[in-house]
Amino acid sequence: MYNEELRSQKEIIICEDGTKTLYSKEFDEPYHSTKDGALHESLEKHVKPALMLKKNSSKLTILDICFGLGYNTFSTIYYIKKHSLKTKVHIISPEFDRELISSLANFDYPKEFDSIKHIIQSLSKEFFYEDEQFKVEIVLGDARETIPKIEQKIDIIYQDAFSPQHNPLLWTKEHFKTLRDIAKNDAILTTYSIAAAIRLGLYENDFFIYLYSAELMRNSTIASLEKLDSLEYIDMELKKIRNPSARSLRDCNIISPENLVVVL
Ligand SMILES: C[S@@+](CC[C@H](N)C(=O)[O-])C[C@H]1O[C@@H](n2cnc3c(N)ncnc32)[C@H](O)[C@@H]1O
Repeated sequence: MYNEELRSQKEIIICEDGTKTLYSKEFDEPYHSTKDGALHESLEKHVKPALMLKKNSSKLTILDICFGLGYNTFSTIYYIKKHSLKTKVHIISPEFDRELISSLANFDYPKEFDSIKHIIQSLSKEFFYEDEQFKVEIVLGDARETIPKIEQKIDIIYQDAFSPQHNPLLWTKEHFKTLRDIAKNDAILTTYSIAAAIRLGLYENDFFIYLYSAELMRNSTIASLEKLDSLEYIDMELKKIRNPSARSLRDCNIISPENLVVVL
């Protein structure tokens, strides 16, 4: 499934918001949408909606799937510091590319991350960082093996793997079941995917599905284990009637994810 020989082959690319990301030869895909921009996408699709929905929590445990360049983790810390929020945050992030993490100390991040350089340095070297407010753990290994072993209960999941077409094993109904198993009963999940198969996989694991639209951003999905009033609800039963051929992605038929692009 994965091609370790190609793993080290990456190129730096500049996104439309001026921030830098990488292009992965292994997955034949950029780490971020170059149109939405690495920093902008991370803040608008993941960090802002998640922290807004959890604004009453004084402590949050976040699962950041997968670490990559760490934009989601770093943007979370940047945003909390910028707004002087008191929330204590524990971020757990699976990643199987050890070499990438070790190289992050030298990556050219946006100036927004200047004040957290010490955190980037620590994660790049030790795969771990902790102070009074933030604890970050990068869990090395295959996410499908490491996530089920996580003992903490999760409040927020950033589902930000490479696309279902290029990394389907991190988008199946079975993968979402492991997320459901370690999630708190009011957990939320943020993802850029609006594909029918992905929404169905989440819905089949008890998540309510919502459309999320941020300014200057393509639509994305927020899934929640509790009903939310503040977002546009997507009635998946109605969607199934309108699109009877839509199916969630399964581990056993991973080779043919051709209907993934269908938007319900
Ligand atoms: C799209 S990038 C993540 C971008 C990241 N959220 C960021 O802000 O930079 C996907 C990452 O998932 C990692 N990855 C892919 N499949 C994995 C797996 N099965 N287990 C662990 N990491 C995986 C890749 O090495 C890559 O770093």
